[in-house]
Amino acid sequence: MADTSYMARKSVADIVGSADADEGHSLSKSLGAISITAMGIGAIIGAGIFVLTGTAAAQFAGPSIVLSFVLGGIACAFVGLCYSELAAMLPVCGSSYTYTYATLGEIFAWIIGWDLILEYAMGAATVAVGWSGYIVSLLHNVGINIPPVFATAPGTVIKLADGSTATGIVNLPAIVIIAILTTMLVLGTKESARLNNIMVAVKLVVVVAFIALGAFFIKPANWHPFIPANTGEFGNFGMSGILRGSAVVFFAFIGFDAVSTAAQEAKKPQRDMPIGILGSLIICTILYILVAGVLTGLVPYAELNVPDPIAKGVDAIGVNWFSILIKIGALTGLTTVILVLLYGQSRIFFTMSTDGLLPPLFARVHPRLQTPYLSQILIGSVVAIVAALTPISVLGEMVSIGTLFAFILVCGAVIYLRRSDSDASRPFRVPGVPIVPVLGILFCLLLMAGLPLVTWVRLVVWLVIGMTIYMSYGRNHSRLRYPERH
Ligand code: ALA
Repeated sequence: MADTSYMARKSVADIVGSADADEGHSLSKSLGAISITAMGIGAIIGAGIFVLTGTAAAQFAGPSIVLSFVLGGIACAFVGLCYSELAAMLPVCGSSYTYTYATLGEIFAWIIGWDLILEYAMGAATVAVGWSGYIVSLLHNVGINIPPVFATAPGTVIKLADGSTATGIVNLPAIVIIAILTTMLVLGTKESARLNNIMVAVKLVVVVAFIALGAFFIKPANWHPFIPANTGEFGNFGMSGILRGSAVVFFAFIGFDAVSTAAQEAKKPQRDMPIGILGSLIICTILYILVAGVLTGLVPYAELNVPDPIAKGVDAIGVNWFSILIKIGALTGLTTVILVLLYGQSRIFFTMSTDGLLPPLFARVHPRLQTPYLSQILIGSVVAIVAALTPISVLGEMVSIGTLFAFILVCGAVIYLRRSDSDASRPFRVPGVPIVPVLGILFCLLLMAGLPLVTWVRLVVWLVIGMTIYMSYGRNHSRLRYPERH
């Protein structure tokens, strides 16, 4: 007899069993541990480090933005451990959506799936806007000038080079990059993964080169005062500035969890998932701390509030060709992030659709390409429209709060499942349960507290829209609650 309550939960055994049984919707198992780690790094290093580090240092934390990264890294380490346990235990695509379905039940699973749109689709839009900024800057270097009004969201006031101002009309470069990457994803996972590996390598070389070269040109005077005095307002430097800075640069860590959406396409998920998630997180955290230290040592922090702060750091070194190289590396980096986020979004929708919470078109796989092509095209279209019309600051904060909310539920799921399904096989176990997941929850709450009230209000509005959709579609089509309707 089916459980028709909103709290109906999937059993862990069913989820694990269905991973291989769903023949009609099969995705190819083509990804190894290195591809998955590369995918993690591909998703992580992006607009956060290339764009937001500078803004956050200039506005909130000064050189102590380094400490903001340490705080963000600690929070993500706790959450990353929890993700690893769940991804290895439930090797199906769907990320925290699946974990919630197995713990808190369907209604919460829907909420988290809806919330994850903020992280993945809106995240992709955010990074596409960052990409637009760097491509405009790079093209300017080679003598091609894109009119700023066609690379800026409508309503945003732009300062032009001659001192006058103009108002943005549409962000065309953001549309172009999303269209290209969506096409690649429709054409096939394996090819995209290979190209992703190459682009991740380019991005890593550029970031390491920035650290290695920049270290020789640091002026230690720029690090004083390391924690600028608070201006009297919460979040403007001082200790609260470090916290506000962490909430903003938290965006830079988003993506390590995207790895979990590929579990169904991993060759050995039990081994590859923890390696991929924790490996990529550790590498990126170390790089971020070093980049933030070098950048604030090269340029006085107050001057870092620009669209391309890393390029500004390179200008301080005085090697011109390296500035162009950095922009190319940043573009490559941003590209891989968009790629992984668009991919992850389609895989989450795929799982929600096979569960009946979204229409069947989201689970339709192309017979030859083996990709969820219709879903991918729909996602690409919506993300392109949002990126064309919305400023990066609004998008970025929404992505951060939505992701932190999802992370809290993931940590809770680990604690819950240890009790409810204590016998289930756990190829990877979080040490020190419940302390580690509880610390994960507390750190995420701390970072959320650093975000402004308006962002909290937007999150609530978003969740209310989601509930309305669930009440009018998902609750009537749920495969778990109404198996006879499928
Ligand atoms: N972590 C990703 C970035 O920084 C989302 O762009």
